[in-house]
Amino acid sequence: MTNVRLSLGASRGVAFLFGCHYNVRVKQFVPGPTAKLRRHWQLTPGVAFLNHGSFGACPTAILQLQAELRRQMEAEPVQFLWRHYEERLEPARQELARFAGAKSRDLVFITNATAGVNAVVRSLKLRRGDELLTTNQNYNACHNVLVEATRRVGARLVVANVPFPLRSANEITEAVLQAVSRRTRLAMIDHVTSNTALVFPIRQIIRELDARGVDTLVDGAHAPGMLPLNLRELGAAYYAANLHKWVCAPKGAAFLWAREDKQAELQPAVISHGNNRPRTGFTPFQDRFDWTGTFDPTAWFCVGEAIRFMGSLLPGGWRELYRRNRQLAVKARRLLCQRLGVEPPCPESLLGSMATIPLPERFQDRSTSGKIDPEQLALYDRFGIEVPFMRFGDPERRWLRISGQLHNSPADYTRLGDALCELP
Ligand SMILES: Cc1ncc(COP(=O)(O)O)c(C=O)c1O
Repeated sequence: MTNVRLSLGASRGVAFLFGCHYNVRVKQFVPGPTAKLRRHWQLTPGVAFLNHGSFGACPTAILQLQAELRRQMEAEPVQFLWRHYEERLEPARQELARFAGAKSRDLVFITNATAGVNAVVRSLKLRRGDELLTTNQNYNACHNVLVEATRRVGARLVVANVPFPLRSANEITEAVLQAVSRRTRLAMIDHVTSNTALVFPIRQIIRELDARGVDTLVDGAHAPGMLPLNLRELGAAYYAANLHKWVCAPKGAAFLWAREDKQAELQPAVISHGNNRPRTGFTPFQDRFDWTGTFDPTAWFCVGEAIRFMGSLLPGGWRELYRRNRQLAVKARRLLCQRLGVEPPCPESLLGSMATIPLPERFQDRSTSGKIDPEQLALYDRFGIEVPFMRFGDPERRWLRISGQLHNSPADYTRLGDALCELP
């Protein structure tokens, strides 16, 4: 193990102010058999990176493009951020529209899925007694947006209880529909859940909710790049999603799609010039979201190239990538369930390129107090494996979630199985 002392580099003054250095312990892991395509990523050699789901990982080629765009931005800040802004933004939006099966006029970039959920929910004109609907498998940050919006006006948050483990997609749809009432104004439903890694039958849920007069906001944080999308056909009222996860765009690239009849009332989480500065050739919806104050838009400008690049890595393009990543996760789950002696908690048909696996009883009675479970830390520190542990359910249980991306190989999951068996 080497101990690397990092000062804050160019920001020495800051380091001095706080009177400290960051101590980063970088362990040298022996690389096992790696995926051929891993060379496109900058992942630390020897680390089995089985948590693509949390923050994604951006390939070198895209980071190089972003570095060049940043160079141009700092060479000519006003030309880049103001005069020629739309010339770089618009092609990226067009590429995204083709990729996601949308009209580009219905799409805006945002910096993350949380910002999209905030924009939609905080633009609703909720009244006392109204209900917002979601599920117990939603993402905590987005759940909090609903809590706050309902609390302010005396509206009610109704949480549908989707079981996990579960046997079929119908259990999901039924749980959601049972929670609808005449007062339901909007349902926020995940496309792919974070804790349980389920691909919800989102098309069916949207259709059934629509038939009951309820709009759906889809939290699609994990979906683009994991599943083929056709937003026009899906028929949701709103769809918010990340591009930094499975499309592998730089961090800060995400989008919000809104059906045309919903756009007039939508305001971004941060209001800026767009409300009274219309631009020729853009919709008022785009005017409001395209600029929400000075920021670094280079992640957005890289989206078209990220879509092209990821789609070029396998001969069968995106279709093969979806299939390959899903197969990797499905096979890894089979292997790990067998190694750990646990039952798979859902049918394979509900998996995308992630899978959540129950941890055996010997892991269940451990107390945890820190931000990250000690076993998760040990897997990284002792075995060079990055994989998330989570706690959820009632009663609370501990689970493990794996991801499969092109930088992963089957050997990564064998290594995880071996390490889990070795953990005390
Ligand atoms: C289902 C789901 N929704 C929303 C988010 C929030 O994403 P972000 O932090 O990029 O806004 C996540 C993040 O992992 C997620 O898994």
